[in-house]
Amino acid sequence: MPLVTTTEMFKKAYEGGYAIGAFNVNNMEIIQGITEAAKEVQAPLILQVSAGARKYAKHAYLVHLVQAALEDTNLPIALHLDHGADFETCKSCIDGGFTSVMIDGSHHSFKDNIELTKRVVEYAHSKGVVVEGELGQLAGIEDDVNVSAENASYTQPEQVEEFVKSTGVDSLAIAIGTSHGAFKFKPGQNPKLRFDILKEVEKRLPNFPIVLHGASSVIPEYVEIINKNGGNLADAIGIPEDMLREAAKMAVCKINIDSDLRLALTAGIREYMFANPSHFDPRQYLSPARANIKDLVKNKLVHVLGCNGKA
Ligand code: G3H
Ligand code: 13P
Ligand code: ZN
Repeated sequence: MPLVTTTEMFKKAYEGGYAIGAFNVNNMEIIQGITEAAKEVQAPLILQVSAGARKYAKHAYLVHLVQAALEDTNLPIALHLDHGADFETCKSCIDGGFTSVMIDGSHHSFKDNIELTKRVVEYAHSKGVVVEGELGQLAGIEDDVNVSAENASYTQPEQVEEFVKSTGVDSLAIAIGTSHGAFKFKPGQNPKLRFDILKEVEKRLPNFPIVLHGASSVIPEYVEIINKNGGNLADAIGIPEDMLREAAKMAVCKINIDSDLRLALTAGIREYMFANPSHFDPRQYLSPARANIKDLVKNKLVHVLGCNGKA
């Protein structure tokens, strides 16, 4: 099966009250761990690539690894640019075989965000590619820009209709209290998402797919393994899984996960290397790391997103 766009996936997810997992990919082991899990539970997938991933692994390597995953799994898979910062990056991914791009104009003014997003949509749609836009700013570290938690600005529901209508975007990322990275809440702070904003957005944009960035749960089991094996990730806190399940039942059709993959991979490597200090064959320490990714993703697909059996 060739790469697909997210159109059909989101339509079914919206109607079925579940969400599609959008997993960040940077190398072969990550792609294999994710796609092996999805194959076992027959889940559709979004594999997403950031500017940092393209710089690290190179565009062509990632596209061909994803092609290999398609051959291996025969699953519906969309290849998506995560946090496209400008028109040129989006164009390069559209021309280079991606089926979906995000143009992240959330740091611009409302007017400039609309202008930039509209330009990307016009080009993408002329090539059969879909576009995700963003309104509102997430707390935490987003690419190179550090927006402090205090200044994080939630999506303003009164802006969403105009944004979607004037840009023609196919999905919209909103800020309701999630954030990127492994430190989403302060110690002692009660994790909280603004479901009232999500409900208002859903009311204003009927049948429209909403995206949640910064949605890793920062699985304590992996944090503990890392800390036990020479790491130091004190106070890492993520989004509770029950909140993600609730969002997936609502208008949220795409849930972005990267930090959990990083933690699972790192836990696997650290645990192996500490138990086997004289080993230096990457296949030995990357095998348990890849197995951790597979376990993690399987659990997300079945118990958090609810997209198992929907391929
Ligand atoms: O939202 C950001 C993603 O986790 C990608 O992170 O830019 O370090 O690849 P990255
Ligand atoms: P996490 O850091 O919570 O995994 O978020 C990833 C993300 O939003 C990628 O765009
Ligand atoms: Zn993101």
